[in-house]
Amino acid sequence: MSTSGSILFDRLGYFVVSGVYSALSTVVLSILILYVALTFYYKKIYKPKPVPLYRPIPGPKVNGIITNVVPLLSIFRNKAASNSVLLFQLACAYSHVFRKEGMWLFYGGFKKILILHKAETVEPVLNSSEVLSKGFEYEFLTPMLKEGLLTSKRGKWRNRRKLLTPAFHFRILDEFIPIFNEQAKIFASKIASSMEKAEWIDIAPITSLCTLDIICETAMGKKINAQINSESPYVQALHKFCHAAVERLLRPWVWADAIYYRTKDGKKFKRCLDVMNNFTRKVVAERKVQKLQEIAEQSPNHDEGFDEVIGRKNRRRQALLDLLLDVHLNDETFTLEDVAEEVDNFMFAGHDTTSSGLSFALYMLGLHPEIQRKVQQEIDDVLGDDEDRQITLDDIKQLKYLDCVLKETRRLWPPTPFIARDLEEDLIIDGCLVPKGTSCGILIYMLHRDPDVFPNPEVFDPDRFLLKHAAGRHPFAYVPFSAGPRNCIGQRFAMFEGVTVMATILRKFHVKSLDALDRIHLVDELVLRSENGLRMSFVPRKFREDH
Ligand code: HEM
Repeated sequence: MSTSGSILFDRLGYFVVSGVYSALSTVVLSILILYVALTFYYKKIYKPKPVPLYRPIPGPKVNGIITNVVPLLSIFRNKAASNSVLLFQLACAYSHVFRKEGMWLFYGGFKKILILHKAETVEPVLNSSEVLSKGFEYEFLTPMLKEGLLTSKRGKWRNRRKLLTPAFHFRILDEFIPIFNEQAKIFASKIASSMEKAEWIDIAPITSLCTLDIICETAMGKKINAQINSESPYVQALHKFCHAAVERLLRPWVWADAIYYRTKDGKKFKRCLDVMNNFTRKVVAERKVQKLQEIAEQSPNHDEGFDEVIGRKNRRRQALLDLLLDVHLNDETFTLEDVAEEVDNFMFAGHDTTSSGLSFALYMLGLHPEIQRKVQQEIDDVLGDDEDRQITLDDIKQLKYLDCVLKETRRLWPPTPFIARDLEEDLIIDGCLVPKGTSCGILIYMLHRDPDVFPNPEVFDPDRFLLKHAAGRHPFAYVPFSAGPRNCIGQRFAMFEGVTVMATILRKFHVKSLDALDRIHLVDELVLRSENGLRMSFVPRKFREDH
């Protein structure tokens, strides 16, 4: 190539290179300006919310409908213990594995079930004013409880809770204490007569008859004398109903009503239901007639004893039913069927729960003679020498150590060891996003065994509930009566009843438990039970010699 040709080429090359260079720098500059402008807009004007990073929900690694069928089938084939005992043990074992996380997810049937068992994971569910719907497990109770307080959904529940709260006022409960006393004395005499015939008794079934008598008289104003006649059709029907509802829960193939009510068990269940429904509705109807008569006989000027708490004339002892009838007579939207529904709810929720708590309390004292002696000393100091003196509200308030014993028993043996809520919205639990539709099961039994809150959790130590030790404890670490807006409405009722019955028995007997803790097969049948009973012996105290 000639020299002039090469100069031309160089010039051309220079123009091309510098053209590309300037185009490139324009593009880079534009991108830079765009980037700065967008960043400025994004951060200063648009201001996006930081996208939260959720932790994955803990749970068994291999988790799914199919993989869960295998262990479940092996449970159902195992004959060494019943299905409910093994399922309960399995749930507790997994909770041990996920102790630090305080929750674990598994697929039960067609539903995701998240088990919660640490104060920090339980709080967002129980404390929420949005998570108010009960879990699907409760559906098997609705034939009896319908849409009463225990099972009702949001709007209806709010309304009912407001209506019924005054019925559990201190002053109303005070009126029930003579009933607690009377039935506790019958309970003591039943124990004494049973011990004349045998060396030991299973304390659970007879305690259940005592608490059934108490709830019948307080809720319905009706004595059914279950302790004297345990064969009464209502008593039998109520016990069979509770058992059948749990059995059904464990058999998904009879969950559909169309199948269940065609089976032998379903027909038996229906018969029990009819017996209970007829009984409650008859009592309610009779009481309404009686109430109307009383109102008609009342002179208009007779205003003495008006109780401003519940807005009624304070004349004779009222049952919870009377208070419900007062609401019914003043509010036409609250029908007679609603009254019966709520009475059924109290009957169901307030009978086996208290009985479970009392039988385990007696059992634990039977295993710990030194604690028993301390409780008896307190009872003797407060109640004095007169063995037959009625226990009053003042006495109950003074029996503080006995109260600690009952609290510690409810920690180790919570009468309702498992409760559940269905999520209608997504919920964040301890950094995990739990999708709506999940059923959250609160395993109270394991929550109460968290060693970070209760050191040496298996040790029975009532002192944990002395004020100085309980102060500062996480409010959701101990929830035998649940907590938050849907907690137990009958909590104070149960506490007064528990102290009265325990004080009456321990005043009269020394108690001894015949089976060690490792012989007890726990089962969650809505309430906690020992499948093989609680064998105990009772020795009458020589009252004066003890002093
Ligand atoms: C030791 C005895 C008792 C224990 C441990 C206990 C425990 C509980 C628990 C854990 C709940 C919440 C249930 C859930 O979320 O699904 C509850 C609710 C309830 N309890 Fe109790 N309970 C006891 C005694 C009673 C008594 C004596 C009554 C009535 C006289 C009663 C009436 C109710 C009712 C009506 C509810 C539903 C409250 C609502 O949803 O607003 N309970 N109870």
